[in-house]
Amino acid sequence: MPSRTLTRASGALTALAGLVLTAAATSATAAAAEPAADSATATSAAPIVTVAHRGASAEAPENTLAAIDLAREMGTDWVENDVQRSKDGELVIMHDDTLTRTTDVEEVFPDRAPWKVSDFTWKEIRTLDAGSWKGEEWAGARVPTLKQYMMRVTQNHQKLVLEIKKPELYPGIEKEILTELRKSGWLSRAAVKNKLVVQSFGADSIKTVHELRPDVKTGFLGAPAVADLPEYAAFSDQINSNHGTMSAEYYAAVHALEGPHGRQLESYTWTVDDPARAVELAEWGADGIITNKPDVISEALEDAGFGVAAQ
Ligand code: G3P
Ligand code: CA
Repeated sequence: MPSRTLTRASGALTALAGLVLTAAATSATAAAAEPAADSATATSAAPIVTVAHRGASAEAPENTLAAIDLAREMGTDWVENDVQRSKDGELVIMHDDTLTRTTDVEEVFPDRAPWKVSDFTWKEIRTLDAGSWKGEEWAGARVPTLKQYMMRVTQNHQKLVLEIKKPELYPGIEKEILTELRKSGWLSRAAVKNKLVVQSFGADSIKTVHELRPDVKTGFLGAPAVADLPEYAAFSDQINSNHGTMSAEYYAAVHALEGPHGRQLESYTWTVDDPARAVELAEWGADGIITNKPDVISEALEDAGFGVAAQ
């Protein structure tokens, strides 16, 4: 069994050495990288977080309460979701900006093409079957509101990576989401410290969240150039990237910086359902693995000698 601490530390240090020797590294990055030998050791001591992507979505219908309940049954406390807004202003949990792939909207409302989330009221969306597309055993699962979702993650004692999906379609959604999180008790000191990350592909959206609630932990979805990472680290605690873009060198560049809360910048990596790939990413320095199969990935990481975050 490999020493997780030594493996991750040596991987990060090796990558860091590569970074320092790479002429392409910017002066800002190089300067920030200088103290990273200590940082790499600190990172290696941190447990790896497994996050259930849209819930345990390999088996259960994504972004439903059933999907986060199944994640809980699998022993996975961290879940990820996607938030958008209905025509009448209700915040709803939905990945696509249309309702067609994951509900029966085309049958229920055949004349409403292209079936955008933002063209339907909550009263309409709540009638849709969001489970049957995944299998008859999930028939009748509903699209949850953010409020319903927060009640369930609270009841389940789970933790949340909340994604603001397509924020450019929903001006002002950041403030509305934060209001709901506050009402649900998720902006308390303990909650923001231990169990919440708000992420988005929209840098401006994450900047807005950071400005409105500087205490909230944030994540930028994407893989900015190494030279640009310091700019993102001003408002984002995490750089959460597609696993195909990742390398030990990139993790080291992320870890060489501090985020807006003065802690080492982190990277949660998505969407990883292959156990061997998850272990490889962990060895390179991933702080979290976002997966549709949290049970499989947690087990693989544990079997490979990597601790999984206490949850
Ligand atoms: O959490 C990362 C991941 O969810 C981003 O991609 O398209 O699944 O929302 P997507
Ligand atoms: Ca997402």
